Amino acid sequence: MIEARNLVKTFPARGGLLAQKAVQAVKGVSFVIPDGGAVAFIGESGCGKTTIGRILSGFETYDSGEIYYNGEDLSALPPRTRQERLRKVQLIQQDPYAALNPARTIYQSLAAPLSWEAKRRHKEKGWIERRAREVLELVGLNPDVVLGKYPHMLSGGQRQRIVIARALTVEPDVLVADEAISMIDVSLRLGILTLLQTLRRDYGIALLFITHDIAAARYIGHDGRMYVIYQGEIVEEASTDELIRSPVHPYSQALLSAVPVLRGLERPGQDRYIPLGEFSVTETSGCRFAPRCRFAHDLCQKEKPPLIPWEQEDHRHACHFPTPRRVVAEPLEGHS
Ligand SMILES: Nc1ncnc2c1ncn2[C@@H]1O[C@H](COP(=O)(O)OP(=O)(O)OP(=O)(O)O)[C@@H](O)[C@H]1O
Ligand code: SF4
Ligand SMILES: [Mg+2]
Repeated sequence: MIEARNLVKTFPARGGLLAQKAVQAVKGVSFVIPDGGAVAFIGESGCGKTTIGRILSGFETYDSGEIYYNGEDLSALPPRTRQERLRKVQLIQQDPYAALNPARTIYQSLAAPLSWEAKRRHKEKGWIERRAREVLELVGLNPDVVLGKYPHMLSGGQRQRIVIARALTVEPDVLVADEAISMIDVSLRLGILTLLQTLRRDYGIALLFITHDIAAARYIGHDGRMYVIYQGEIVEEASTDELIRSPVHPYSQALLSAVPVLRGLERPGQDRYIPLGEFSVTETSGCRFAPRCRFAHDLCQKEKPPLIPWEQEDHRHACHFPTPRRVVAEPLEGHS
């Protein structure tokens, strides 16, 4: 299990041609990824989703907060040991082509992490190829067909399967899928989602699914938990089903309003459509969402809403005026 408490990450200011002010990308975020669980982070571009995923998989440092991994506080460990623990959290990125070395065959790409494993676990010669074949089979690829190929000889869906196979070489506890299907041909996306679901079900690998696409997040983890992130903060969290059925934060409602309705099978929820105005970074002592919120009152400009429970302890929101609204599509009679 991973538990993050109050994670904060600031990217320092940069000068020169690509000058940028300091950006606090993550502003005190807390969440839990249970063993074998499915957790989704949803939110617009720039809200800090990737940064959190990269922190968890050891690619990024953090300024403050704690990460407990199976009860051990990683913040207290030396960076090298922390890195080692976090090898069990594997990141699957958006672009499988960029994630693979174009000059290496698939066998070479898999053999690199496997030789590290072989050395660590004192495995005999021959183990590396056996294990490479095994992980390829796990992700639904024929080793005889793909082992000798280069990434450009494969489809986007096959490449993403290779990236997942490579992640499996270390027998991970958690896969962080960061927009892992967004660059793949639409016809191949369902296959990758189903694969991730199977890995979770059959091998107990937890999934952190980072996405703009709420429909995909729902598919992957309807029994999991969803965190809605706005400008580096969690604004609503609940079980995935509860959050989709009855969101109470206007930002979650706006995101859910954008989920397409299947004509002939569904009708729009009765409170749809909650619009999302133009995005702008908001520095305020009040609610960051206020400039875009059609339900804002004076209080919202002045006071920051804390993240507090709504009816049940495990459904939490950060809004002064939480109101359940039915925004997501509902099945038509006879199609539920
Ligand atoms: N290496 C970096 N250096 C400076 N700023 C960064 C860096 N990485 C991210 N940021 C900034 O941190 C904020 C959060 O970025 P992040 O990539 O985590 O967002 P995201 O939610 O994953 O967005 P997207 O949906 O577009 O992938 C953004 O303002 C981004 O510009
Ligand atoms: S606190 Fe106010 S501005 Fe913020 S989301 Fe709630 S109603 Fe809107
Ligand atoms: Mg991202």
